[in-house]
Amino acid sequence: MNEYFENKVAVVTGAASGIGLGLTEEMLSRGAKAVFMADVSQENLDRESERLSSKYEGEAVPFLTDVTKEEQVEKLIKSARKYEGHLDFVFNNAGIGMTIPTEMVTLEIWKKVIDINLWGVIYGTYQAIPIMREQKSGHIINTASITGLVPVPYQALYA
Ligand SMILES: NC(=O)c1ccc[n+]([C@@H]2O[C@H](COP(=O)([O-])OP(=O)(O)OC[C@H]3O[C@@H](n4cnc5c(N)ncnc54)[C@H](O)[C@@H]3O)[C@@H](O)[C@H]2O)c1
Repeated sequence: MNEYFENKVAVVTGAASGIGLGLTEEMLSRGAKAVFMADVSQENLDRESERLSSKYEGEAVPFLTDVTKEEQVEKLIKSARKYEGHLDFVFNNAGIGMTIPTEMVTLEIWKKVIDINLWGVIYGTYQAIPIMREQKSGHIINTASITGLVPVPYQALYA
């Protein structure tokens, strides 16, 4: 338990595995009231939200969301705010890795990676700012990568 996180409501995108799942569990273990777990994997969301809700006092709310769809992100953020009347943390974390020689990247691949890794973050931020300004509080945390600072072979697209 941690006073700072107690009764807080959070959104985590890409919450069904990896870093997002870790963030979700950390928030709940520190006393968060609810964490809205957004992901495209219904199966993983159902399994992990059930596990976490039975382990902690707070609720892990599975919320099937594709972060590339503006209207789905809007619904996610507004639903989280409605839950208790406040939205305290938004973790824009959903993302995919990509290791491929740049000359082999098709426009479809460019679009897919930019839509998830960049536009997903923009949609989440765009929806959260007015709510947090109105509340006069809130945190937006975007997961980045060291690859953005230190170039790695075949990861130009991701970087
Ligand atoms: N793992 C690393 O070494 C590392 C390093 C630096 C940065 N990152 C970044 O951290 C973030 C999380 O990475 P991870 O390693 O936990 O990956 P992961 O693959 O374990 O988790 C990513 C989650 O995002 C979900 N997801 C994918 N597309 C989505 C979409 N359109 N809408 C909603 N959810 C979607 C996946 O289903 C998955 O559950 C990513 O943004 C990644 O780029 C990872």
